[in-house]
Amino acid sequence: MNDHQPKTAGLSTRCVHAGETLDSKGAIHAPLYNHSTFGFASTQEVLDVVEGRVERSLYTRYGLNPTIRSVEQKLADLEGGEAAWLFSSGMAAESATFLAHCTSGSHIVCIGDVYGGTFELLATNFPRLGIETTFLLGSEVDRLAEAFRPATRLIFFETPTNPNMEVLDIERIAAVGHTRGVLTVVDSTFATPVNQNPLALGADIVIHSTTKYMGRHSDLTGGAVIGPKTLLEPIWAWRKNLGQMMAPEVAFLLSRSLRTLVVRVRAQNATVQFIRSDSRTILE
Ligand SMILES: Cc1ncc(COP(=O)(O)O)c(C=O)c1O
Repeated sequence: MNDHQPKTAGLSTRCVHAGETLDSKGAIHAPLYNHSTFGFASTQEVLDVVEGRVERSLYTRYGLNPTIRSVEQKLADLEGGEAAWLFSSGMAAESATFLAHCTSGSHIVCIGDVYGGTFELLATNFPRLGIETTFLLGSEVDRLAEAFRPATRLIFFETPTNPNMEVLDIERIAAVGHTRGVLTVVDSTFATPVNQNPLALGADIVIHSTTKYMGRHSDLTGGAVIGPKTLLEPIWAWRKNLGQMMAPEVAFLLSRSLRTLVVRVRAQNATVQFIRSDSRTILE
């Protein structure tokens, strides 16, 4: 990880200030709006929101809740993406992304070892919907183009991977995908936006299980998808209709966690460097 310098000049400044805006009462962090539904003065106002002319708080399952939107803005900023959607879990974020960009007959290429739940989703659940996946080892990136079929819609991989911490070359893989019009979706959970920004390296969509390093305190489960609006808009509808929304209380906890993300991850990086150099000394 340390050998990899993300192409993100000024990242640490963005991390500290990412997406923080004062709310209408001047609160320095978005307050917890634990509401399922928001009020309107007229039917016309509701129609303006429902028909997409105005963005306003409406209904929490839709994601139109100020606490949730503020954390999404922060995550988009951290990853250098245009938009971000929060989810009730990392698996919810992955499944909505796959379902939004694949239909029955579509094909996915998954590279490297992946979290067991992701493997089960791709290998067991999706074939029942007519979505097939070819699994390549992390050492088989050379075979990526060969693995493509006319129906290939998406390349998916984690980097670093769970559990083996393999690091894959996002730029190289995304370049192959782009020559064939195939989306590159990167699960960057283990890196966090502090160590890696996949969008800056050519990925189309980034996914995080916020349950892990982003949340850290072992008191929240969540997921996030970040990328350009054109690729995120179809995912919004799946999240809404599958009911995969993160609860506002959880978004509020995540917002608390993000305020210490940079110092936590930098401390972890320093610890790993220390262990590596210490074990080298012992081996020598
Ligand atoms: C890399 C990675 N992606 C996704 C997931 C799924 O996340 P969640 O447990 O939040 O659904 C995990 C869970 O361990 C993971 O390690």
